[in-house]
Amino acid sequence: MAAKKKLRSAKSPAKALRIMVLSGPNLDRLGKREPDIYGTKGLASIHSELERIAAEQGVELDCRQSNHEGDLVSYIGEAADGEFAGILINPGALTHTSYALYDAIKGAGLPTVEVHLSNPDAREAFRRESRVAPACLGRVAGFGAGSYMLALQGLLARLAAG
Ligand code: DQA
Repeated sequence: MAAKKKLRSAKSPAKALRIMVLSGPNLDRLGKREPDIYGTKGLASIHSELERIAAEQGVELDCRQSNHEGDLVSYIGEAADGEFAGILINPGALTHTSYALYDAIKGAGLPTVEVHLSNPDAREAFRRESRVAPACLGRVAGFGAGSYMLALQGLLARLAAG
């Protein structure tokens, strides 16, 4: 099989493309927290799998987690000011409440994919609203840890298409 084409930064073609991967409150407890809903894989293992997929295309990831809204807002600002080509974000429960994250994503102007392990639309009513969705390119939800991988593949395909 032919080797996959390496993706490069549009601004600096000599540099690898960089994607920021963000996870919000309680996602540090993946694997231990409600495994019937969120699965048994921890966030570190999800990050390793993402790194493997990214490396195949010469893409660099910066994976972070915080339980604090302000940290996530700052990280999105960092992605906008640094040479990042896009963002994957699972905002956890902040999905349903955070206008600050909506503003941060909108203001960053980077293609951003909303990720969820569970399918929020099939759960409690309060989870059916996403504050961040209108600022995002798309959403992947309901595939467990696989949602992160599918979201990365979707974002990379979109970036490769230009
Ligand atoms: C979640 C869904 C949210 O509703 C919830 O608050 C989470 C995790 C998910 O990945 O399925 O913390 O974002």
